[in-house]
Amino acid sequence: MLSTTALITGLLAALTQASPVLQRRDGAVGGVLICSDPNGQGVCQYNVYELEKCYNLPQGLVNNAATFAPDDAPFYCYPYLTECGGICTSPTGCTFGAVSYDYENKYNLTKIGWNEYITSFECHLNQTQTASP
Ligand SMILES: *[C@@H]1O[C@H](CO)[C@@H](O)[C@H](O)[C@H]1NC(C)=O
Ligand SMILES: *[C@@H]1O[C@H](CO)[C@@H](O)[C@H](O)[C@H]1NC(C)=O
Repeated sequence: MLSTTALITGLLAALTQASPVLQRRDGAVGGVLICSDPNGQGVCQYNVYELEKCYNLPQGLVNNAATFAPDDAPFYCYPYLTECGGICTSPTGCTFGAVSYDYENKYNLTKIGWNEYITSFECHLNQTQTASP
């Protein structure tokens, strides 16, 4: 009984140590994975981007990005229809809203049709909600 418990505990410890290496990218503020296909497939680009700065998508991903997945960090991005500095003429606005790690469709923008639309994006740091002492 005791040895079984010890074995399981050891196994769990090993798994706990192994999993971050296997499946977690470092959650970097400004880190965004952008791919042509859903679920991080197809042509991909991962970079850590500066905040408060607009970036145009590279060739191959312009109007062709079904994955737009920010890292697990307190920041969010606005994908835009127009290139950086472009003037928004869409009556519905030129973004579908903030995309953060928590955004449910980040691995399949096809669900909202935006895989055909992202041309540029800009990321921002989350506001801290706690008042400073
Ligand atoms: C950051 O802000 C975005 C957009 O408001 C929100 O969806 C996300 O949950 C926030 N993330 C954290 C870690 O607070
Ligand atoms: C992505 O969403 C589209 C539209 O809802 C769906 O047809 C497709 O199967 C989804 N792809 C994946 C890989 O989930």
